[in-house]
Amino acid sequence: MIAVILVGGFGTRLRPLTYTRPKQLLPLGNTTLIEYMIGRLAEQEFREIVLAVGYRPDTLKEVLGDGERLGVNIHYSLEEEPLGTAGPIRQAEDYLRGSGEFFVLNGDIVSDMNYQQILVHHRYHQAQASIALYRVDDPSRYGVVDITSEGQILAFIEKPPADTAPSNLINAGCYVLDESVLDHIPLGRKVSIERETFPLLCEKGRVYGWEHKGLWIDTGTPSSYLEANKEVLAASTNQSHRESPPTHHGPVRRMYIGPTSSRNVRYLRPYWKGKDTIIGNDCEIGPNVTLGRNVTIGAGTRIRDAVIFNCVEIGESVVLRNTVIGQGAKIGDKIRLEEFQLVGDGATIYPGAIVPPGARIDPGTDFR
Ligand code: GDD
Ligand code: MG
Repeated sequence: MIAVILVGGFGTRLRPLTYTRPKQLLPLGNTTLIEYMIGRLAEQEFREIVLAVGYRPDTLKEVLGDGERLGVNIHYSLEEEPLGTAGPIRQAEDYLRGSGEFFVLNGDIVSDMNYQQILVHHRYHQAQASIALYRVDDPSRYGVVDITSEGQILAFIEKPPADTAPSNLINAGCYVLDESVLDHIPLGRKVSIERETFPLLCEKGRVYGWEHKGLWIDTGTPSSYLEANKEVLAASTNQSHRESPPTHHGPVRRMYIGPTSSRNVRYLRPYWKGKDTIIGNDCEIGPNVTLGRNVTIGAGTRIRDAVIFNCVEIGESVVLRNTVIGQGAKIGDKIRLEEFQLVGDGATIYPGAIVPPGARIDPGTDFR
């Protein structure tokens, strides 16, 4: 089976981290969003992946190459100009014609969706398009469907004004499309699948919905990205638990290993610590923390619900929570970042600085 993954967005809601990389390369534990997605597809027998790329394709190619390491063949379909969420599908038609049907995935979703189930459902209904759906409390920032009790989608409304949504079932960013859908997407211009293609198909064709009930997170905002980090870390911790069941929850170890190691470091699961990362005495790390490679952390620092990229230097007695620190950034002693501040690659936060809630510190800048 073949899947097109849409990875051409600018990730504006995750700036400044996405000035230097597409959001698909944001770390999640020891993986990245795109490697996590492709890994799940590979587990479910997908072998051909078309990456619809436009923004910073060089960085994606560097990490993913031809996909061999992940057990798939990756084809890059490059857009000179952003073609939206349907235009890239038409542009990639050479890979898709002759397949009968194929998957399309938004490239920013962490989920444990069963792709086989949606395919079976799609074929059973002889649908032209099938959309994975997810139930949420507030559908207004998503695509929302009007659906019959048999599962046929009568209308698709992208980001409806508050209180006008026809249901709480939203587009989960995963579709099975019949090859004939390619003929309904104009070639060579920007086309939105949500605003043009789906409304057209609902009117003229057979569009069905399939409700996913497991894990589902759109990682597009700082808080949802941190939520995805938490879930991916928890899932990988559970896997190792399967091999050696934990005897207790909460603090997993207090370390004191010889005079050269740090004393009294408290680790709270789940967390991931990259290679060559050094943690000072009396620190508390976790839960829900990704620490990249070559990070140094001064004594007495506490970090939870956070992602720290590679090569970051963090001072003493720092408190980090609900925050993301870009590659090579420096965080001075006693700094507190606890309210969704995002620090760009290579930025420096000097000791004594007060960083307002939600602040975005641009890459390479000094904040005093
Ligand atoms: N190749 C390419 N070209 N990809 C694009 C482009 C483009 O011009 N624009 C956006 N994308 C990619 C993004 O990288 C992302 O992976 C995906 O398309 C969806 O774009 P978002 O910008 O994340 O859209 P959204 O989150 O506001 O809404 C979409 O996702 C929701 C579920 O998370 C819509 O599909 C909604 O209907 C849906 O409910
Ligand atoms: Mg999104």
